[in-house]
Amino acid sequence: MSDPLETARETALSTVVTGVRFPFCAMNAAGSAASAEEVRALRRSRTGAFVLKTVTVHPFVHPGFRALHNPGFDKLLPLVRDLAAVDERPIVASIAGATVEEFGLLAKAFADAGAAVIEANLADPWVAAMLAPFESEAVMRELGKRIAASGRPCWVKLPERVPVAYSPLVTVLLDAGVGGVVAHPEFHGFEKLLLEAPAPIDVVVCGGMTTGFEIATAMRKGAKAVQVDTALRAEGPGVFARLEREMRRLGDQP
Ligand SMILES: Cc1cc2nc3c(=O)[nH]c(=O)nc-3n(C[C@H](O)[C@H](O)[C@H](O)COP(=O)(O)O)c2cc1C
Repeated sequence: MSDPLETARETALSTVVTGVRFPFCAMNAAGSAASAEEVRALRRSRTGAFVLKTVTVHPFVHPGFRALHNPGFDKLLPLVRDLAAVDERPIVASIAGATVEEFGLLAKAFADAGAAVIEANLADPWVAAMLAPFESEAVMRELGKRIAASGRPCWVKLPERVPVAYSPLVTVLLDAGVGGVVAHPEFHGFEKLLLEAPAPIDVVVCGGMTTGFEIATAMRKGAKAVQVDTALRAEGPGVFARLEREMRRLGDQP
């Protein structure tokens, strides 16, 4: 028989974001596991999901936008298929495009391959330069519709400074079928977004998450999950076991 206390603790550490269940509320951030080997190494960790590096339709080698360097989306699809077949944890596919059509194509390709969530990377300067989704509500709406047409729950990753008001932005995203955002932990980031959102939207916090206490604080403030980059790079995949331990210890306190 399962221990009810243990079950309660597991429930507190697991989460549901945009209808998808994550066994642990912390996962790697896009780009923190860049190669297929690094993603596979995460299988031995306690990460709640596998978030892939951002990919584009064509191989991307532009020297000005290093964070986006990738071999093209088609090189990643076999990894998604393999991983989805052997691991129950959700795969989050991070995508970037110069047009809404590219975002739509990528979302569909990863949904078909077995990704559980599509994360549109709107935080990257290249996307801002090419598509400028924050400069036009019509573009943002169309982008949302195209990725939502993949049939998978969708998140958009917001830049550190969001150049538009949160209330109309959340309205456009929800109307288009996008149920989640990845936002920064500062007050002007997810907290302000949650306060100003005209309807509930799921928030994943990304940025500076290095301890179980920080994660618990973000969750208490309304985040549904967190993403970890720097701490994973510094400690390796074992970071998730440490974060889980720290969160359990907090949960044990009266
Ligand atoms: C070398 C490097 C590569 C990154 N690549 C991506 C990427 O492909 N897609 C993305 O959305 N974010 C990318 N990021 C941003 C991270 O996902 C994350 O948002 C950022 O590092 C903040 O998290 P942290 O404070 O835990 O480091 C990258 C960051 C670094 C340092």
